[in-house]
Amino acid sequence: MPKNLVLIGFMGTGKSSVGKVLGRKLSRPVIDVDQTIESRANRKIDAIFETDGEAAFRRMEREAVAEAAAHDGAVITTGGGAVLDPENMKALRANGWILSLSASPETIFLRVKGSRHRPLLRSGDVLGEIARLLEARKGLYDDADYRFETDGRSPSQVARMILDTLKDKL
Ligand code: S3P
Repeated sequence: MPKNLVLIGFMGTGKSSVGKVLGRKLSRPVIDVDQTIESRANRKIDAIFETDGEAAFRRMEREAVAEAAAHDGAVITTGGGAVLDPENMKALRANGWILSLSASPETIFLRVKGSRHRPLLRSGDVLGEIARLLEARKGLYDDADYRFETDGRSPSQVARMILDTLKDKL
């Protein structure tokens, strides 16, 4: 069975959009971990953070990641914080290529501003918060099989780069 393609990266690096394009082009199922959590809990992510807190969200995320990782040949798109738990990455790596998407803080800012479903980016200084979180997590996003820069590229262009890079491995 083919391995999963697992997209990791900070919020706003395009994981979900690129994942959809990859799923379509490869005719593979797409499993979006954030969406799985929302449909299980029957609530939006910001509501889960608000009522249950981040730790509870991370527990739900761990469960959803473990389930996703048990598939074969799927495109799995993770939330930006999935990399924080080494168990998540171990499970995803066991049967998947880890593809890391990156973007500059400024690009991320432009992509996420106005989005209301990102509870971690609610502070007054959103750009500062992006830079701080990116710095704190940098090593985690760098620990991937392949890395792709998304600044100035559309989701289809990023998907094309990924397919070109992985062409002998799919
Ligand atoms: C988070 C990223 C979000 C979502 C949650 C926490 C993070 O996903 O899982 O708000 O810790 O970076 P996206 O990366 O899809 O925005």
